[in-house]
Amino acid sequence: MTPDPLTSWHKLDTLASKQRPVLMRDLFAAEPDRFQRFHEREGDLLLDYSKNRVTGETIDLLIELAKEAGLEESRDRMFAGDKINATERRAVLHTALRAAPDQEVMVEGENVIPRIMAVRERMRLFSDCVRSGHWTGATGKPMRDVVNIGIGGSDLGPAMVVEALTPFHHDRLKFHFVSNVDGSAIHETLAGLDPATTLFIVASKTFTTQETIANATTARGWLVEALGAPAVAKHFVALSTNGAKVREFGIDPAHMFEFWDWVGGRFSLWSAIGLSIAVAIGFDRFEQLLAGARRMDEHFRTRSLDRNLPVILALIGIWNANFLGAGAVAILPYDQHLRKLPAYLQQLDMESNGKSVRLDGSATTCATGPVLFGDAGTNGQHAFYQMIHQGTQMIPCDFLLAAQGLGPLDNHHLMLLANALAQPEALMRGKTLDESQAELLADGLSPDEAERLAPHRVFPGNRPTNTLLYKCLDPHTLGMILALYEHKIFVQGLIWGIDSFDQWGVELGKILAKAILPELTAPGPTTDHDGSTNALIAEIKQLRN
Ligand code: F6P
Repeated sequence: MTPDPLTSWHKLDTLASKQRPVLMRDLFAAEPDRFQRFHEREGDLLLDYSKNRVTGETIDLLIELAKEAGLEESRDRMFAGDKINATERRAVLHTALRAAPDQEVMVEGENVIPRIMAVRERMRLFSDCVRSGHWTGATGKPMRDVVNIGIGGSDLGPAMVVEALTPFHHDRLKFHFVSNVDGSAIHETLAGLDPATTLFIVASKTFTTQETIANATTARGWLVEALGAPAVAKHFVALSTNGAKVREFGIDPAHMFEFWDWVGGRFSLWSAIGLSIAVAIGFDRFEQLLAGARRMDEHFRTRSLDRNLPVILALIGIWNANFLGAGAVAILPYDQHLRKLPAYLQQLDMESNGKSVRLDGSATTCATGPVLFGDAGTNGQHAFYQMIHQGTQMIPCDFLLAAQGLGPLDNHHLMLLANALAQPEALMRGKTLDESQAELLADGLSPDEAERLAPHRVFPGNRPTNTLLYKCLDPHTLGMILALYEHKIFVQGLIWGIDSFDQWGVELGKILAKAILPELTAPGPTTDHDGSTNALIAEIKQLRN
């Protein structure tokens, strides 16, 4: 099961059959300096990948795989603005959004940096005004609540970053994110708000997304009912690539912050889509977030592959998925403010690499993107870690932890850190039958009872983990971490030979939902669908009557 013509893939296959039985605890016993060999850093950000079932030979072959897949050339093509999103014939230039003002990035003969800088400048002015209170609503009051209405990439990125950087928020402002078309989301958000002091940011690349337009329409109705139609101008701004649709919705294009089709939805938090972030933490700090991402871009572009953080993270993931059989990855931030990171990375990874057709239209012959899930530590420990430790599947985990917490309770932070270190150690080392039996006997159990219980207390161990350690979660560090994952996903997609930048898989359901909507209230039976769907529509109609 290989992306055929890559000969290094076959070599890795052979190596994997040799290395599969290897125990990490033996590797650590034989090489106490594994950490020295298998860690890498960029500034304050350190990746320890020593707790994986890899040796120097594995890493060398994985690097050979990356080279054979043409990683360096493809990476340079992405940064140069080539249309590497082949199925949509688009450039992929989220990296340009965080470029320095003097950089030059050409798209169809035009340097796009001046346009990016012009939008950034407008974002600075606007966010400054909202924060200072100079931007006032229809009744002359400063804003107190900011509601971002968007979904997918127009929600997950800003929502995650705004929460991640809570310690840097403006005191007066509260942030709300409404994404789901389920009316309770917008209804319950609006219920607590005062129209006179609420700012709506309608975030949609296309400005045609059903959920976003429905929520924005409801929000506008709520505002107009309280303050009248002219108030929309002072309480609604739009973030979009589609000026015509923004105007049609009734938002003044002067209050639209633009971005471009070469920014993928799930890569858009660095664009105007990040306006809520800029309002929350201030534009200077938003620029620190961009600078962190830029630093990781530079690292990815210039570091040798064997010392390159996104490349290593991607290749370790490929080793675990394609050669050791892992079908999932757990993202485990030991940081309450990063509790939305797993959901954000779910879209970034699964919408990018959840594909089964290669760029040339042929079917993939190896596993591609994994199922990604997770939660903030230590909550996950009391929920799904049981399976990670003792289940039948091997689930590689990424642990993220800050040496310093930004909250006032350092004793809590030390407990958090102790847990974040204990879990990867336990997952690596495990506990053998003999060890578990000896422990039970030492606890005073009878030999029979110890023998009966010991198998349940065995930890197979040998479960791979990466640890990302940083000083504290500031905007710059967060920018580095997010760009690290973006580039990891790019590298993996390239090796699997898929288009990581389209998302055709979300279309079919959207089209069917549009067809079903009028059928839910139409008289008479529905016959256009399969028997199950037709029957469910009939049942719903009956229950609603
Ligand atoms: O779910 C598909 C998708 O196109 C995502 O890629 C995107 O982030 C989301 O919908 C929202 O799209 P828009 O920003 O155009 O409303």
